[in-house]
Amino acid sequence: PPLSRILSLADMEAVARQVLSHKALAYYSSSSDDQITYQENARAFSRFFFHARVMRPVSRCDPSTTILGYKSSIPVFISGAALAKLGEANLTKGAAQTDIIQMVSSNASLSYEEIAAAAGPSQALFFQLYKNSNDATAEKRVRDVEKLGYKSIWLTVDALVPGNREKDIRSPWVLDEIDSGKTVFHVDAEEGATAPGDVGFGTAGALIANDDRDMTWEKTIPWLRSITKLPIVVKGIQTVEDAVLAAETGVEGILISNHGGRQLDYSFPPLEVLHRLRKRRPDVFDKLEVYIDGGIERGTDVVKALCLGAKAVGLGRPFLYAQSAYGVPGVVKIVQILEREILTAMRLLGATCVEDLKPEMSPLFTQMAP
Ligand code: FNR
Repeated sequence: PPLSRILSLADMEAVARQVLSHKALAYYSSSSDDQITYQENARAFSRFFFHARVMRPVSRCDPSTTILGYKSSIPVFISGAALAKLGEANLTKGAAQTDIIQMVSSNASLSYEEIAAAAGPSQALFFQLYKNSNDATAEKRVRDVEKLGYKSIWLTVDALVPGNREKDIRSPWVLDEIDSGKTVFHVDAEEGATAPGDVGFGTAGALIANDDRDMTWEKTIPWLRSITKLPIVVKGIQTVEDAVLAAETGVEGILISNHGGRQLDYSFPPLEVLHRLRKRRPDVFDKLEVYIDGGIERGTDVVKALCLGAKAVGLGRPFLYAQSAYGVPGVVKIVQILEREILTAMRLLGATCVEDLKPEMSPLFTQMAP
């Protein structure tokens, strides 16, 4: 269908499901075990409602914000996803046209140089780091991307081993498909930890086979701090306790995330973790920026997360689907849809800027005052 017929992120996903190859769709859409966390990530948003205020002037309404000091037209960024094929450059160009920020995956299928080259002169790119078990190898990667101009390091900590993604394991060699042509494949496992035919953990297993499984707060964060001047965000926080520990190490941000339900099934939905963090440790929000990702499909989802204290939210699959279905215009369309939905929700809620969004505006349904 023409892009004008795409009204929602769900419409976009439906098109992507038709155009993607079976293997690529299996890799993009898969999540672990019985997909409980994957489903709950999205469902958690339906447990929070709005306390909309009326009779407030909202003709002027501004959904823009900053993420680590970098301007973003809406409080949304692209969460890093491996193997977007040539799509990574589409994501970069779409982000440039709409003034949002892309987090580039360690396992991008274009080189970090190619992605940086696709960016506009003033465009900020963030870098998602899978830390190699060899410190020197990891250090080189960090120094390289810093030199290329990436603006922050998002250290992924929820993928020490791959989740059990059966859809993907059943058709594991998505790599054949995606890593064809001139696609460069940034895989630590290139040295051969997983060979074709070894179904093992599927694509995900091959991608992170040489990653550090012994990271700690005491060792890894100071190490990262010592090799880069860039702000550090810890990606994959799943509990209030770990959010507090992250704040104590002095990192600039945390991304509350369970990898889109692709890692530990029955991990708590990010929105619920955010809600508990806000209630139990509001001080953490003064020490660092808090983001969430997973299951975000609507502008109202974005606005709820901001009410509960998130500075911004990430989307993974929706951007992959958009660029698979329509390329750069698809990516632009996703941002336009979200912007319209966010503006509508903010106005109907009585908010004119992101600072107006407060916890009392989006209470958990079961805790609503009578
Ligand atoms: C991911 N994700 C991910 N995360 C990461 O830190 N490094 C990576 O290389 C990838 N790769 C990846 C591939 C694919 C196909 C998906 C769907 C996801 C996780 C990603 O950054 C993000 O946390 C989730 O995608 C957010 O959930 P939604 O928006 O997809 O529901």
